[in-house]
Amino acid sequence: MNALVDINAQQFFASVNQWYAHATVRNSPRIVVPDADKDQYIYPISRQLLGAHPQVQALGKQGVGYVLAQSAYQYMYEIGLLETRFVIDCSLNLINNVIKGATEEEKLDALTVVIDEGYHAHVALDFIIQMKRLTGIEPLQVPDTNGNLSAVKRALQLLPVEMHNDFQLISVTLAEHTLTKDLLSIGREKEASEAFTRVMTDHVSDEGRHASYFAKLMKAHWARLPEETKTRIGAMLPEYLDDYLAGDEERAFDRQILRGAGLSEQEAQAIIADTQELFMAKLNDYISVTKANLVKLLQRCGVFEHQPTRAAFSRYGIDL
Ligand SMILES: [Fe+2]
Ligand SMILES: [Fe+2]
Repeated sequence: MNALVDINAQQFFASVNQWYAHATVRNSPRIVVPDADKDQYIYPISRQLLGAHPQVQALGKQGVGYVLAQSAYQYMYEIGLLETRFVIDCSLNLINNVIKGATEEEKLDALTVVIDEGYHAHVALDFIIQMKRLTGIEPLQVPDTNGNLSAVKRALQLLPVEMHNDFQLISVTLAEHTLTKDLLSIGREKEASEAFTRVMTDHVSDEGRHASYFAKLMKAHWARLPEETKTRIGAMLPEYLDDYLAGDEERAFDRQILRGAGLSEQEAQAIIADTQELFMAKLNDYISVTKANLVKLLQRCGVFEHQPTRAAFSRYGIDL
């Protein structure tokens, strides 16, 4: 066996062994929500502006708890959606050659992603069901899409069908990178319940591995894409980043939560107006930090070595 093959084999087995040793699906016990959480705020109040508004505070602990429980449900449902409708689908496409070019070793790693993500969706739904039983609070809605999935759908409409799977790999790579950072940051919030924080920290311990796996794979995949595919996808990527990161400025779900908490339409409207400036400031801050991170990721993956893509980003006002 030559030296190069030997090093590759060692690296590969290190990654297999790392999964056996660290994957939460193999090593973490079930996260049981304790009875005491019935009277605790589940979701960090720093992540849900409504919770601190005087009129919501005036609803008492139960009212604030309701607002935070709905926000926690929404967060968990969105995790489940991303895993089951997006990341698992892309990983299966790699395994089954729908996205072409993955080696057997890369396919084996993609299978670990399928298992991990299935488990993350399981943990999220398990958490929701336990919380519902404990608090008696029913989720206001079970979302069937989110901002990321809707942006992908819009992007695919702009691309010829034969480029859809290549775009899926790119959009999943971007999403896995964003999710890792988001989970890290929400897991550090001090005011969430212990069980909620455990769900976040367990999850992120797997996502670091996924983020580097997809980044490596996408770098190799981008390099082998035909010129026409690179040009088409590259031309729409700058706009896609903005579309994908855009938040719901209308705050439709926030309104629903306030109405669900028993406030009138006018009261809800006034609370939304009072908190809108801070909401937008936080949203814009999040977008600019995340977008800068994603541009750096694209840089590391060699995307800007393709001059027409580089030019598309410059035209869009993104300095590289
Ligand atoms: Fe995950
Ligand atoms: Fe992941």
